[in-house]
Amino acid sequence: MRVLVTGGAGFVGSHVVDRLLAASHSVDVVDNLATGRRERVPAAARLHVCDLRDARLDSVLAAARPAVVVHVAAQAAVSRSVADPRFDASVNVLGTIALLESCKRAAVPRAVYISTGGAAYGDTDVLPTPEDHPLRPASPYGVSKVTAERYLEVWAGLTGARGLTLRLANVYGPRQDPAGEAGVIAIFTSRLLAGATCVVNGDGEQTRDYVYVGDVADAVARAVAAPEATGIANIGTGAETSVNELYRRLARLTDVRRAAEHAPAKPGEQRRSLLDATRAKSLLGWSATTPARRRPQPDCRVVQEGADNMIDEELKAILACPACKGDLLFEETRIICPACRKAYPIRDGIPVMLISEAEPWSPAR
Ligand SMILES: NC(=O)c1ccc[n+]([C@@H]2O[C@H](COP(=O)([O-])OP(=O)(O)OC[C@H]3O[C@@H](n4cnc5c(N)ncnc54)[C@H](O)[C@@H]3O)[C@@H](O)[C@H]2O)c1
Repeated sequence: MRVLVTGGAGFVGSHVVDRLLAASHSVDVVDNLATGRRERVPAAARLHVCDLRDARLDSVLAAARPAVVVHVAAQAAVSRSVADPRFDASVNVLGTIALLESCKRAAVPRAVYISTGGAAYGDTDVLPTPEDHPLRPASPYGVSKVTAERYLEVWAGLTGARGLTLRLANVYGPRQDPAGEAGVIAIFTSRLLAGATCVVNGDGEQTRDYVYVGDVADAVARAVAAPEATGIANIGTGAETSVNELYRRLARLTDVRRAAEHAPAKPGEQRRSLLDATRAKSLLGWSATTPARRRPQPDCRVVQEGADNMIDEELKAILACPACKGDLLFEETRIICPACRKAYPIRDGIPVMLISEAEPWSPAR
């Protein structure tokens, strides 16, 4: 099937692309690389560097002719949405409308929208929270994601196309940016491994439902393969973990004995978040398969995996193909020279071309 994924160079989107390619779908990616990285998009997918709000989107969709659009791209930072709600709405609301209009012109019959559970439901009366619970977003990001869901429903109603929204719990796993504001597992793990102190906001008894990114990609692949599935489905594990508990387990795994520091609670932060994914089970046959014991105490390798092969941005800027001095394309595990069609593996963050070209060295006597 031909599938177009927006935001396919980002954390969640790149795992979705990998999974769809593994299921033999033909994949086009639209991403403006605002937070996404070109090298996360495998060569087997066609990357169109294009903003959702750019008029060129029409020609990308016309050429890609997707049977399904998976809309992952977003301004995904809650703090940025608070600081600049207009920008947040511009990407998450206007960008989604622009995409849906392009889908209409290209007669795309189906769209799967990646939304959020926690930020959409806000503080809830029922835990685990089902899809029909009232929505109480407490941030501009929550409002913009919920608004985009509504536009998807209206687009489907007006065009006769099908729309499905997946509301994700807190996602963790490889390629999550530990420098970002979200992803407490990536942040804590990278700080613990670097010997830095972790900061817990508030008393740390706030809880979240942490779902592994591979399980999320599986849910999206099932949604793509289920043309009858419409409406809204939560994607979460139904298991609740407090930030204090997460810190204790990650500290134990990394052999750190130091306690975390506590900072004032973030205003408006939800106390508990836990999603009921019963509908995802009946609609898509999906449930989280990452073993329960790894959910609350994710293996550090889960986060490290992506970082192991990461090449420094400065190194990237100065590297050229040793054979033809041409510009290089960086993937996760190799570097490609499109001009002379050579590929150089990356091992432990070091391109082998640097190792094999190095002069032998011995200490001065
Ligand atoms: N990470 C989580 O825990 C989580 C939880 C719930 C929902 N989500 C949702 O999952 C999706 C992906 O989040 P993520 O954590 O992978 O974030 P991310 O920032 O890694 O990915 C977003 C991608 O969208 C691209 N993008 C941003 N603005 C764009 C624009 N105007 N045009 C084209 N591309 C654009 C970025 O370059 C990036 O590749 C978002 O829709 C987010 O709301 C994420």
